[in-house]
Amino acid sequence: MGWASCCKGSDGILPGRRKKKKETTWRIFSLKELQSATNNFNYDNKLGEGGFGSVYWGQLWDGSQIAVKRLKSWSNKAETEFAIEVEVLATVRHKSLLSLRGYCAEGQERLIVYDYMPNLSLHSHLHGQHAAECHLGWERRMKIAIDSAEGIAYLHHHATPHIIHRDIKSSNVLLDSNFQARVADFGFAKLIPDGATHVTTKVKGTLGYLAPEYAMLGKASESCDVFSFGILLLELASGKRPVEKLNPTTKLTITEWALPLARDKKFKEVADPKLKDVFEEAELKRMVLVGLACTQNKQEQRPVMSEVVELLKGESAEKLSNLENDEMFKPDLTSSFQDSSHSSRPDSSDCITEEKTSKADTIDEAVDSSETVPSAR
Ligand SMILES: Nc1ncnc2c1ncn2[C@@H]1O[C@H](COP(=O)(O)OP(=O)(O)OP(=O)(O)O)[C@@H](O)[C@H]1O
Ligand SMILES: [Mg+2]
Repeated sequence: MGWASCCKGSDGILPGRRKKKKETTWRIFSLKELQSATNNFNYDNKLGEGGFGSVYWGQLWDGSQIAVKRLKSWSNKAETEFAIEVEVLATVRHKSLLSLRGYCAEGQERLIVYDYMPNLSLHSHLHGQHAAECHLGWERRMKIAIDSAEGIAYLHHHATPHIIHRDIKSSNVLLDSNFQARVADFGFAKLIPDGATHVTTKVKGTLGYLAPEYAMLGKASESCDVFSFGILLLELASGKRPVEKLNPTTKLTITEWALPLARDKKFKEVADPKLKDVFEEAELKRMVLVGLACTQNKQEQRPVMSEVVELLKGESAEKLSNLENDEMFKPDLTSSFQDSSHSSRPDSSDCITEEKTSKADTIDEAVDSSETVPSAR
């Protein structure tokens, strides 16, 4: 029971407190144990559904709460191959990453077990079932931005092997009982066999978050994650969805909307009205500038994640001023830049053939840019 009993509610409260227990603290679960924890994968336990399968809330015999992802595409991935890949992911540990607690591979079932995050996803607070409750004040948002940037920077620069997330979006940023951000579902691309699901969709990712080169060519790289993270930053600052439907035929991406405001230095107008003007102006400006820098069409112009962390923290006044004075934010270049750097990127939805919703988000409006595009890789 050791580590299992220490998980609920203690994440992120006292840095360092759980250090010893954090080492390879995963284990293999039996199907029976997970069936009993989730009341036999009862519909009432279902937290939602993503591109890889359904997620169920459960409680183990020791009282600790778990989230169990039941993969729908187990097909041609052998038990041992699956186990090896999950075990690699399970060794990735960082305070801002939702680590695997264990897995089960029995018969046709492939299940991944995580700690349950009581505050669900960032998406549910910005656009879903918690949106009306206004739990996300400015300080929390800034912390979520920095923490999740650090988690992704860890995946890109420090994890062995380095991991490209490929599906960064607000529903994959989960929040623990202290609203500490935990980036979830990293490395999932590796767990699903090529061609096992959604053969019509070649690219994994989510409407509105996809970097153009990934949407068009399926070329995944760290900078695709940077692009998606930039969208997430703009979403966090503004409370807007990555793509808003203005009318049945016209869509406006969050970058198309925010860039002109940033060029006119109208940062306050980007701020989520739910913040009721209570925010740190300098921090908001940083979040917006960095978000836009990340979402440039040319991937070589995007910062890398370690720079994103540095910029968000405001650690380098020089880098920040360079960014602010970048051509991208010059008012006179509006049309040409917008054409070449943001707006002309392909409509990601062109590449999308399948949509699905999560139960947690069923009260969302029709235009929900968190719809996942599961992939065949
Ligand atoms: N550990 C967890 N604790 C609480 N809620 C969770 C947990 N893991 C997932 N969820 C929620 O369950 C729902 C489904 O998650 P899932 O990861 O399957 O889909 P998704 O994040 O919408 O898309 P994707 O498949 O691209 O990750 C989401 O609303 C997610 O926030
Ligand atoms: Mg997810």
